[in-house]
Amino acid sequence: MDVLIRPTAEVATTAADILAGYIRRGATLGLATGSTPTPTYRELIRRHAEEGLSFSGCRAFLLDEYYGLPRDHEQSYYATIRRDLTAHVDIDDALVASPDGTNPDFAAAAADYEERIAQAGGVDVQLLGVGTNGHVAFNEPGSSLASRTRLTTLHPQTVKDNARFFGSADDVPRHVLTQGLGTILEAGHLLLLATGHAKADAVQRLVEGPVSASCPASILQLHPNATVVVDEEAADDLDNAEYYRFIDDNALRG
Ligand code: GLP
Repeated sequence: MDVLIRPTAEVATTAADILAGYIRRGATLGLATGSTPTPTYRELIRRHAEEGLSFSGCRAFLLDEYYGLPRDHEQSYYATIRRDLTAHVDIDDALVASPDGTNPDFAAAAADYEERIAQAGGVDVQLLGVGTNGHVAFNEPGSSLASRTRLTTLHPQTVKDNARFFGSADDVPRHVLTQGLGTILEAGHLLLLATGHAKADAVQRLVEGPVSASCPASILQLHPNATVVVDEEAADDLDNAEYYRFIDDNALRG
């Protein structure tokens, strides 16, 4: 995997550079919510407005959704991705898909989402954040490395981490629909971003720890085309940070 350690402000521009190559080709984008990708989305919106970066021809799939939140709830990921990115660029809104967290038949909602991704020919590039406990999308520790889109239960740590978006932990839904780790592994390129010291332990475990359901993000080690972009603070616990910098500086990089 490529590990790129950048000043905080350059995490977004580095990610936008990678994503822009896919966007110009009209790729199928895998989008993530959470606070980490928002500077990247702002940079993509800027490039759309000022540099003519066009999303026409692209479609997008979100990683996950809170179960039971109406789509018009401001914290639904359906609403969040529109507010943070897709309403501000020229992507067809009908082609921005997310799991249907309002379907009482959650197994059918999960199967339908897998089907829609398959019918689109899969995701070309999947943007990812990481939870402080190592989760990706909403695959909490203990998730099968082969898991598919399904209903699952949030870890108390994730409820605590996400309470800031809801006002209180009691308002955070306990159940979610999420792409599985097996689903995510089928994307053509995995691009994980992490910023801030709170993510340093998760970054160390996902890059250097064993591949383990205890750290779901460690599945990136199983993927042949994975890029991790972190700032100095999130790189704090990496044992091999100097080596990753050396590779990054090395003339062998294309
Ligand atoms: C959320 C999302 C993840 C996200 C993670 C980190 O719960 N489901 O997709 O990567 O937690 O969020 P943040 O970027 O706000 O730290």
